[in-house]
Amino acid sequence: MEKKQTVLTGITTSGTPHLGNLVGAILPAIEASSEEQNKSFLFLADYHSLIKNTDSELTHSSSFEIAACWLACGLDPKEVVFYRQSDISHIFELAWILGCMTSKGLLNRAHAYKAALAENENTGSSDLDKGITMGLYNYPILMAADILMFNADIVPVGQDQKQHIEMTRDIALRFNHHYGELLTPPEAQISEITGILPGLDGRKMSKSYNNTIPIFLDEKKLKKSVMKIKTNSLEPGEPKDSSNCTVFSLYKAISSESDLNELKSQYDNGIAWGKAKTILFDRLNEFLKPYKNEYDRIIEDRGYVEQVLIDGANKAKEVSTPLIKKIRSAVGIRGF
Ligand code: TRP
Repeated sequence: MEKKQTVLTGITTSGTPHLGNLVGAILPAIEASSEEQNKSFLFLADYHSLIKNTDSELTHSSSFEIAACWLACGLDPKEVVFYRQSDISHIFELAWILGCMTSKGLLNRAHAYKAALAENENTGSSDLDKGITMGLYNYPILMAADILMFNADIVPVGQDQKQHIEMTRDIALRFNHHYGELLTPPEAQISEITGILPGLDGRKMSKSYNNTIPIFLDEKKLKKSVMKIKTNSLEPGEPKDSSNCTVFSLYKAISSESDLNELKSQYDNGIAWGKAKTILFDRLNEFLKPYKNEYDRIIEDRGYVEQVLIDGANKAKEVSTPLIKKIRSAVGIRGF
């Protein structure tokens, strides 16, 4: 049998999960985890979240909600090693070791850090590093440790994370060159679908545009959200273009080919926007309901979520424990 490839990705534990996350990231990741040749590691990047957020209650509740969300969307903890980053102390130990091997110049080039510098420059601040923490600066190193601690082969991420994977490769190669071949330089797998799903205003659905459709809305709010979708001023009876139409694109993301063709012909026949939105709402509601029901059930059982993550951490440690041992020894940190 061919050796399984390790597919690993981190989930940011902030924000309210929305339809774009669901169809662009969550469902494809869960789908990929059931493929025979993959061994999947999915983890909550909870220590990464401290960079953006110092409200401890929010850190805690977001982490729980995102864990419950993935379980509700069908993640099977028997198929996937599902864990909290914070439960694996080896990651943080490795981050230190990698930091000692990483030139400051490499991190100076990180997009997020450069953007923060540019922001200070634009606002005319005399201190270009104003408000920039070491957490933000070291973010790529912690991410490299997340990945290298499990010798991941493939890391599915959005386009915005590509640079981090390239840095991870650089760091792994430098380590291997110096201390021997212990780390696997990973490949990024950039998802293409994520960019496509439009939000309520027609731009990409994203929490930064405030145009999302959250997954776990109650029916009334979901309807209100759908009714807010921006359309044009064509009247009922006037033919409408289904390409470049937010309502149609959202419908497309969750419908079969034949249902799509049916709606398309209604567009050609001049369907009223209100009617098209109602059709979309009904479909969305039907699509999201099982996830919402499961979510409502899971969040009542905090002990279950905790146990799943503890079991996941134990499985993750079966991989990280022997590797950190070898790494320590390779760098010269070993018993006398
Ligand atoms: N930085 C990633 C993001 O913002 C999240 C993340 C943290 C991650 N550690 C990771 C993704 C390791 C892949 C692998 O989406």
